[in-house]
Amino acid sequence: MRKGILTIAAVGLLTTGGLTACSDDSGNGSADSKKTPKIGVILPDSKSSPRWETADRRFLEEAFKAAGVQYDIQNAQNDKSAFQTIADQMITSGVTALMIVNLDSGTGKAVLDKAKSQGVATIDYDRLTLGGSAQYYVSFDNETVGKLQGEGLAKCLTEKGAKNPVVAYLNGSPTDNNATLFKAGYDSVLKPKFDSKEYTKGPDDAVPGWDGPTAATIFEQQLTATKGKIDGVLAANDTLGNAAISILKKNKLNGKVPVTGQDASVEGLQNILAGDQCVTVYKAVREEAKAAADLAIALAKGEKKDTGQTVKDGDRDVPSVLLTPKAIYKDNVKDVIADGYATKEQVCTGAYAKFCAEAGIS
Ligand code: BGC
Repeated sequence: MRKGILTIAAVGLLTTGGLTACSDDSGNGSADSKKTPKIGVILPDSKSSPRWETADRRFLEEAFKAAGVQYDIQNAQNDKSAFQTIADQMITSGVTALMIVNLDSGTGKAVLDKAKSQGVATIDYDRLTLGGSAQYYVSFDNETVGKLQGEGLAKCLTEKGAKNPVVAYLNGSPTDNNATLFKAGYDSVLKPKFDSKEYTKGPDDAVPGWDGPTAATIFEQQLTATKGKIDGVLAANDTLGNAAISILKKNKLNGKVPVTGQDASVEGLQNILAGDQCVTVYKAVREEAKAAADLAIALAKGEKKDTGQTVKDGDRDVPSVLLTPKAIYKDNVKDVIADGYATKEQVCTGAYAKFCAEAGIS
């Protein structure tokens, strides 16, 4: 699926200094260099993950302010028609670059194509728009995210001494290309174990819109359908993981059944410290926001940057920046705090203070 070289070794190591700038004489969708740069960003929602409002907005603002460019960051709140309206308003208001986190590839493509036709530069931020026309794609290596989830679940099942465990899947939204990539990643670890009968494949469901309450309903049904015989849960992010944990708690199974996640949300980190969640995947959103902001600013000035890497979308090679994710267990929750992604004050509240002390968070 991916083409090109993955040179980025670790989270936090990518600097956009590695991107080479050159002037764009193609005139193809790039902004007019005489215009004052103004970047529009459309975030998808604020419920599927707290990251969009607490991390992405914060770090994008930080990057735009540092560069001294004008910006407008809005959130479509999971509403596809609002998404299109926001895009139209941003284009009318004269943004020179538009960055989107699509709600699905269809609406994403419509927005990107319209922006392109008006000479507005475009970036797919975090989610690739399939069949789209964005000039760049900035994200993490999402198959590796899934691989870390699969490996994390296997590690925790081994630690629990599980024998032929039944593993249930709570996949991300079927309209999110990332969910497909995450699944390819965890399947690469778990499918061989199902095939060799080391593990047993349990229920496998996608959660529309990455919605937490829907995930809880689905997981409750999975537990009923298997007569309570689920030994591990591959949940694609912390929101879905927390939904599963809430149902496990109701059944006094929390802590016994390892659950995965993603995003290093405060809730996810607390669930890990309490022993209810096995692993989360930390993605240094500050780096992602900075890389995307640098590209958006360059595009807005009519420059082109070479990212040194591309991702295939059908026949199209999309110039991409893909950062490296990191697995987080109880013993390295402190790394997320040291990185400034979450604070000790947020994570170590009330009953969690004791767990923080045990995990060496001082
Ligand atoms: C993002 C995840 C996020 C999920 C739900 C995905 O596209 O990569 O970080 O948890 O969407 O918002």
